[in-house]
Amino acid sequence: MDLLGHRLLFVTGKGGVGKSTVAAALALAAARRGLRTLLVEMDTRSMLAEVFGTGAVGAVPVELRAGVEAVDLEPDHVAEDFLRTHLRFERVWRPILESRVWHTFYEAAPGLKELLCLGKVYRLEEEVRRYSRVRRWDLLVVDAPATGHAMGLLNVSRVASRILVGPLRRFAQRITDLVTDPERTAACIVTLAEEMPVNETLELHGRLTGKLGLKVACVILNALVRPALEGEARDRFETLRQGDVLRRGLEGALGGGPATALLDCTEAQLAREALQARYARRLRRRLRVPSVEVPWLAVPEWDLRAVEEVSHLLERGLGRVR
Ligand SMILES: Nc1ncnc2c1ncn2[C@@H]1O[C@H](COP(=O)(O)OP(=O)(O)OP(=O)(O)O)[C@@H](O)[C@H]1O
Ligand SMILES: [Mg+2]
Repeated sequence: MDLLGHRLLFVTGKGGVGKSTVAAALALAAARRGLRTLLVEMDTRSMLAEVFGTGAVGAVPVELRAGVEAVDLEPDHVAEDFLRTHLRFERVWRPILESRVWHTFYEAAPGLKELLCLGKVYRLEEEVRRYSRVRRWDLLVVDAPATGHAMGLLNVSRVASRILVGPLRRFAQRITDLVTDPERTAACIVTLAEEMPVNETLELHGRLTGKLGLKVACVILNALVRPALEGEARDRFETLRQGDVLRRGLEGALGGGPATALLDCTEAQLAREALQARYARRLRRRLRVPSVEVPWLAVPEWDLRAVEEVSHLLERGLGRVR
């Protein structure tokens, strides 16, 4: 499966599971492949500036590194950009932007912020270079909001194309056409192999592929603990554990306290591995979507090196999925 071969990727999932990390990692992988990539953040306290050591990412695309630019679609800036683009002259748009009527409408109209943001993604996808007229970016990776908000965002153009009229209706329809075109657009759900994230992933997958008509190209199982003992070592551990041989040996070598602590630690790790395997199996059984695993990285600080490592692991994982 060529995930990076799309024009537009939405990375979503439950809060805190690693969406921003995966989105940034995919953008880095795309750049290594020579694709000019735009990473689109949405109203998040973006970790990009910190991780990439750039200044704050804002409404105007900034270069994170060769081949990767980033933009943050903070809704108020997007609204201003919308008025500016459509009304052109500051003496026209500025009074509207500062008027109470606009403010009240903007805050109260359901879905307006989402529509403006999704509309901005659409316009970024269409953006061309001034002289050559070729597309400015080969790939847009959208660090989409968590489940509920992502549904609101991805559903808004569909709803708008039913209730609006005239050019706005046609605009909403063109956005929906882009978002639901499986050749150009795919969603990617990030999850942990734990009960709540897996349940949410199953539900999100159903809603994205059902009512919304999006293609979910893959699920990223993030932060999986690596097996502490594998193969022969695991078998030997199990054998020694029987009949308390291990405990007695460790007590003899280390004393009672450290031996118990070590054994408890190992038991906890093995229990976690077993639980993780169970949820990963559950996910795979229920979803016919390729999954890619990213291990839990034991790093003292979540920095660019960690995101780069995730990027290489993802690239390898995606390469194995055909
Ligand atoms: N593979 C991993 N191994 C270890 N830690 C990880 C891994 N992936 C993510 N993390 C940790 O989880 C934190 C949250 O990740 P991230 O910001 O990408 O999540 P998110 O889903 O975007 O969160 P939010 O819903 O708040 O936007 C990271 O700062 C990092 O500390
Ligand atoms: Mg995030």
